Amino acid sequence: MPMSADQSSSTHLLDTQMLAVDPRSPDPEILRRAASIIRAGGLVAFPTETVYGLGANALDAAAVARIFTAKQRPAHDPVIVHVADVGELERLAARVPAVARKLAARFWPGPLTLVLPKADVVPDVVTAGGPTVAVRSPNHPLALALIRAAKTPIAAPSANRFSRTSPTTAQHVWDDLAGRIDLILDGGPTPIGVESTVLDVSGEQPVILRPGGVTAEALAAALGRPLAEPGATNGADAVLASPGMLERHYAPRTPLWLFTGSTAAIHAAIRTEIEAAQGRGQRVALMLAAEDASTFEGMQAQAAIIGSIDQPDEVARNLFQTMRALDVAGVDLILARDFPPAGLGQAVRDRLRRAAERIINL
Ligand code: TXA
Ligand code: MG
Repeated sequence: MPMSADQSSSTHLLDTQMLAVDPRSPDPEILRRAASIIRAGGLVAFPTETVYGLGANALDAAAVARIFTAKQRPAHDPVIVHVADVGELERLAARVPAVARKLAARFWPGPLTLVLPKADVVPDVVTAGGPTVAVRSPNHPLALALIRAAKTPIAAPSANRFSRTSPTTAQHVWDDLAGRIDLILDGGPTPIGVESTVLDVSGEQPVILRPGGVTAEALAAALGRPLAEPGATNGADAVLASPGMLERHYAPRTPLWLFTGSTAAIHAAIRTEIEAAQGRGQRVALMLAAEDASTFEGMQAQAAIIGSIDQPDEVARNLFQTMRALDVAGVDLILARDFPPAGLGQAVRDRLRRAAERIINL
């Protein structure tokens, strides 16, 4: 089989298989196969409740190194270790602070990743040489079944090429990683659609390194006190502590401009930009809320609705899918509206800001 130029930079071309699996009752034969690939040091993509992950045996340094090659991910960006049981925390962490135990009991399985001091059993490649390890238990029956069948914790970043948006369907994984990994388990679209919240519990105060599926409000309620807002005073430290956040992430290939401010101001500014882009001979797509749609009817722009302003769960679920769809729609520019930060809106905002080439504050 001829190799494309794009794939020649990696190891050899693998014969990637994609198999449909019912998450509620996974075919035991397929599970056995996936587990034996993991145990043999191979790579299996699987759905979680947030996004698809690219899994390898977390205790096998060579296997985890293959994740970095397949994704073309820089070695300084550590990966999350996925476990099926809270008890695994004791094996992977050198020390489990009381706050970690409390939050794991409350939110696992679920979209909360805890960063703790690492135990020696965790290979350096997992933590990018750092002293901490990120651990979570995914709330997805197929992910949990795979971890149990493999009988080992599974290291898994999102199953996209480095710097692309995270995959929320098996097809997205195929589009990015076919020929570079062994197997894709297709368990349908992921229910949450944005990645887990990464919370550093290795220091004195819990710090959110990445907003995600568990909201800051829910964490504050569980802890009985407010958390430092991401990007607030200790945000600079937080960003440095989470190396992956230094990169421009989640970005579509098409330039995306993000408009923030009142709805009226956003509408006016987007109208002006549509006309300006037309003047330059550019094709434009819009990423809008359902409430915006009628405003732009009849204008020369392809409109994609990602959800209602007051339904952040719906917006989160559709966000990456919409970015990917617009990316292949052949437009020159994406104009996107901002969403309010309530609930999952915080994670949506964060991802939109990372995706944006320009942010227009109105
Ligand atoms: O929902 C999710 O978290 C998905 C699914 C597959 O579990 N995974 C995911 O992994 O989004 P990834 O690698 O795309 O993002 C993990 C983030 C990165 O920003 C990384 O830098 C950070 O977690 N991270 C991992 N280990 C860390 C550590 N020891 N200390 C600080 N940040 C860490
Ligand atoms: Mg990622």
